[in-house]
Amino acid sequence: MNTLLHKIAEMKIVPVIKIDAAADAAPLAKALIAGGLPLAEVTFRTAAAEEAIREMKKFPEMLVGAGTITSVEQAKAACEAGAEFLVTAGFNRAVTEFAVENNVPIFPGVCTPTEMMLLLEYNLPVAKFFPAEQYGGLATIKALSAPFPGIKFMPTGGINEKNILDYLAAPQIVACGGSWMVKEALINNHQFGEIERLAAEAVQLVK
Ligand code: 3PG
Repeated sequence: MNTLLHKIAEMKIVPVIKIDAAADAAPLAKALIAGGLPLAEVTFRTAAAEEAIREMKKFPEMLVGAGTITSVEQAKAACEAGAEFLVTAGFNRAVTEFAVENNVPIFPGVCTPTEMMLLLEYNLPVAKFFPAEQYGGLATIKALSAPFPGIKFMPTGGINEKNILDYLAAPQIVACGGSWMVKEALINNHQFGEIERLAAEAVQLVK
């Protein structure tokens, strides 16, 4: 967990990806690598997610996780495909227990103190705060963090080039998730040059 967290914290941005065609995974990975952001959270919102993870993991420099995991079956499939970490939009006990038992880093989604307490129960150091902007953004993160100072956050949802620096300036934040450099339409229209450009711009911004 620590090495992975260190790598994610170093990159500061987790590109959140919804991919419709697994064939787009390799050019997408190449674009992210060329843009200096070799990291991806591939969400299980499409049937192509599992295969896309497998394709991306063919690039040794890529750090690839699976997002929007809603069942143990998906978690298993993601790990078998090579996912190095799991992300859930909310807190799911079965998925969390699978991850903990198999030593797979997991970032469960939270937005309330009750969910923070579930993280404590499983001794998990980082929560995905989702959907971040809609649930009060940084002010809510700071308030949630007061009683639970040991838990850090990876906020996602409504974070982009305009507000990411505010989040990253807070000590509670490990990294921010966002889709602005890997928008679905850019992937579907094969605008990999634009993805590379947006990734490089994002990397520059958070340097
Ligand atoms: C996620 O699942 O983390 C979000 O859908 C990403 O949010 P964004 O599209 O607002 O960056």
